[in-house]
Amino acid sequence: MPEIAVRDGLASVYANQALVTRAPQGGRPTSSSSQPGIMAEMLERLELRPGHRVLEIGAGTGYNAALVSTLVMPGGRVTSVELQWDLAEKASRALSAGGFAVDVVVGDAQHGRYGGDQFDRIIATASVDHIPRAWFEQLRPEGLIVTPIRIAAPGPWQQLVVAFQKAGQGLRSVGVVWGGFMYLRSAGDGGAEVQPPTVSVSEVIDGRHHMFANLVGHGLARMRPAARRRLTELLLTRPRTRPIPTSGPANSTLLPFLALANQGAGVLVAHAGDAGRGMGIATRDGRGLSLVLAGKDRRCRMLSFGEEEASALLNDEITRWRAEGRPSLADWSIDVSFDRRPPSRQGERVLERGQCWMTVAWSDTASK
Ligand SMILES: C[S@@+](CC[C@H](N)C(=O)[O-])C[C@H]1O[C@@H](n2cnc3c(N)ncnc32)[C@H](O)[C@@H]1O
Repeated sequence: MPEIAVRDGLASVYANQALVTRAPQGGRPTSSSSQPGIMAEMLERLELRPGHRVLEIGAGTGYNAALVSTLVMPGGRVTSVELQWDLAEKASRALSAGGFAVDVVVGDAQHGRYGGDQFDRIIATASVDHIPRAWFEQLRPEGLIVTPIRIAAPGPWQQLVVAFQKAGQGLRSVGVVWGGFMYLRSAGDGGAEVQPPTVSVSEVIDGRHHMFANLVGHGLARMRPAARRRLTELLLTRPRTRPIPTSGPANSTLLPFLALANQGAGVLVAHAGDAGRGMGIATRDGRGLSLVLAGKDRRCRMLSFGEEEASALLNDEITRWRAEGRPSLADWSIDVSFDRRPPSRQGERVLERGQCWMTVAWSDTASK
């Protein structure tokens, strides 16, 4: 990232932070160099060995590909796919100048086939809501895929980084950690990240933007316009507030648990605003909304607006999370099947996602 080194100094390039490297004017970033902390965690989960053939998705700057290449030498081979051709060219030049043997290929990694043989490892540096079948087919039996997954359909925030191992006709998770990445996009998106339906309330005073509330969720598009207006009005009212004790808020799995909530008659919404980030449920008529927010101090609290129905639905889920032992991420498992819907057993959630089904479960920590 020579431009960033010149502008902000070399130390900032090596600081533990993500660096945006491509942001179209007025749009959301379309490329960045990931935060080194999560890069290291993902590389560790990938269990790279000399001789491994590795597919990276999202070459970006080429930094991560250089690290992968170092770890699989001697004898290894790295192919890195990048959607944006000019970034691919730049990464390729930087990698050869640094002496790293990486094939940088331009393409949409969701569909392409790269290299003749199967790969020992696949690492994705952009987030997906399902595992593309092409990745599964290009992975050798018992090979590993490490990828960020958007487990909540409503918005970009509830992501987990999952290490999967290929087992028979599916994948089973062998590790789940925190982490979030920009979306994997399709070649047809014109490079833009598609913004999910949003209802938001904000004001700009003296050039400063205050985002009071920002609800995001595909369910919002299915509500009648009058119901969405009522929801917007509700956001301007004073909510009922109560604290939610969580065990170690920083590691609380309450929010990703709620992202999988049984919504009953409501719709699931993600929230991001000055008050914090969270998950919640709105009733379809827009007369009730209840949210669990993790504030900047990382404490969780519940905010309820309007009629009680939404808070009753959310309370049921919080009670379930407690009853299931507040499972820590180490207790979570996510399995992927491609050919047929797996049977849903008690306590598991089966998510149908395009080309695959994902089964989310957690072991019972209450008994530990
Ligand atoms: C977080 S950046 C990657 C960081 C990179 N590994 C590095 O070390 O700098 C995500 C990258 O994924 C690319 N990308 C997004 N959708 C893609 C797709 N369908 N196929 C290939 N690359 C894609 C983006 O253009 C972006 O450069």
